[in-house]
Amino acid sequence: MHKPSDAASLAPPLWQQLQACAHALQAVLQGRNHSQALSQVEPRLRPAAQALLFAVLRQWGRTLAVKKLLVQRQPSAEANALLCVGVALVLQEDQAMYPAHTLVSQLVEAAKRHPATKAQAAFINACVRRLLREREVLIAQTNSLPSAQWNAPEWWIQALRRDHPDDWQTLLKASLQAAPMAVRVNTRLISREALQSQWQAQGIASDQAGEVGLLLHQARGVHSLPGFEQGLWSVQDLGAQLAAPTLLSGLQAAPGQRLRVLDACAAPGGKTAHLLELADAEVLALDIDAGRCQRIAENLHRLQLHAEVRAADAAQPSTWWNGQAFDAILLDAPCTASGIVRRHPDIPWLRRASDVAGLAQQQQALLRALWPLLKPGGRLLYCTCSLFKQEGQGQIDSFLVNNTQARLLPSPGQLKPASSANPAGVLDNGLRDHDGFFYALLERRLDA
Ligand SMILES: C[S@@+](CC[C@H](N)C(=O)[O-])C[C@H]1O[C@@H](n2cnc3c(N)ncnc32)[C@H](O)[C@@H]1O
Repeated sequence: MHKPSDAASLAPPLWQQLQACAHALQAVLQGRNHSQALSQVEPRLRPAAQALLFAVLRQWGRTLAVKKLLVQRQPSAEANALLCVGVALVLQEDQAMYPAHTLVSQLVEAAKRHPATKAQAAFINACVRRLLREREVLIAQTNSLPSAQWNAPEWWIQALRRDHPDDWQTLLKASLQAAPMAVRVNTRLISREALQSQWQAQGIASDQAGEVGLLLHQARGVHSLPGFEQGLWSVQDLGAQLAAPTLLSGLQAAPGQRLRVLDACAAPGGKTAHLLELADAEVLALDIDAGRCQRIAENLHRLQLHAEVRAADAAQPSTWWNGQAFDAILLDAPCTASGIVRRHPDIPWLRRASDVAGLAQQQQALLRALWPLLKPGGRLLYCTCSLFKQEGQGQIDSFLVNNTQARLLPSPGQLKPASSANPAGVLDNGLRDHDGFFYALLERRLDA
């Protein structure tokens, strides 16, 4: 059981945290992602609500199955969300966040203190107490359901099993682990060693990983970590930190010129900034979402970097391209995000099976539309944060069959989520602890 920290005495009462979590869960059940859902929660309750919400979502398959055995008639949406929070937290195995009696009394308190759940406090109490009494039996009754066993939707499990017959179970388990906080050092402003020593002097421990990354021993809010406002570092998974160096390595600008680089799906600008930290390049950063373009601009400003940022549909170059070919294109395409479930445990439950084909079609359209914008000898890095083949190797195989101008260069390929908690079974790519990504580096033949 996790011990309450010293700060626990300053934390809001647990019943308030449970209410906030249930509120956010209700929003996720209505189709909103966890960031949108948590943005509705009072800022003082947000970190605790997020920790609880993630714990609940990592037990979601089992929670749905067990709740079905406990409840004959679905209660109101508000009471259902609070009940589900209680069920999921009781189902946590060796990682229980709270002693059972505290949890139950605080759940009941949470129910009583809200007008929408007040009348169902006794019902929630009865359900959770029965679960505590019959926990092992109820779990055993749901064991035959893959969604309960793996805490993922059945179609998701099948897709991973089809695409990764040797390690689908390891991948499902890895997706349920919490991910460490990884940062990328802005080496234009400070060396990794200098930043790590500054943090160390303030009691903030980290390990070096990848080319310019640091993995924190303990996650913290960005504003409580020195150097964020000054642009010394950015939050970025180690797998994502491969994009910029993979695209740029081996590319040289023509004498007297800067590399012309297109970042086609750029928001919120993590990889755009990394490209600019590594190269004195002229970067055009596009994103179809104007609101998210604003975030690219803010991030670049904080990091003291510059790019041209435009809201545009990358699949329609006639609406934004000036006809000058690019030396390099980064296509970090929209995808199911099946590789980053450690950081987004809502994703499997928000996606539908049909989304995979729909997104694969968008990816194909983007790849086809952007390829002609590349100079002969130029390079395009195709990347998704997905584990599904249709969005990775499958996409590239069919592109290469239909495009004789393109050749595949040595590329990272499929990175699978890996962590120190599950070192065995998954091919580690030398980055220690990272999310799942797919990378393919394509070169346009010089004679093409
Ligand atoms: C995986 S995210 C990009 C993450 C970003 N490269 C980073 O590292 O911070 C995909 C982005 O593609 C954008 N997008 C989707 N369809 C697009 C299109 N047709 N043209 C341009 N951007 C698009 C989405 O708005 C989203 O911001």
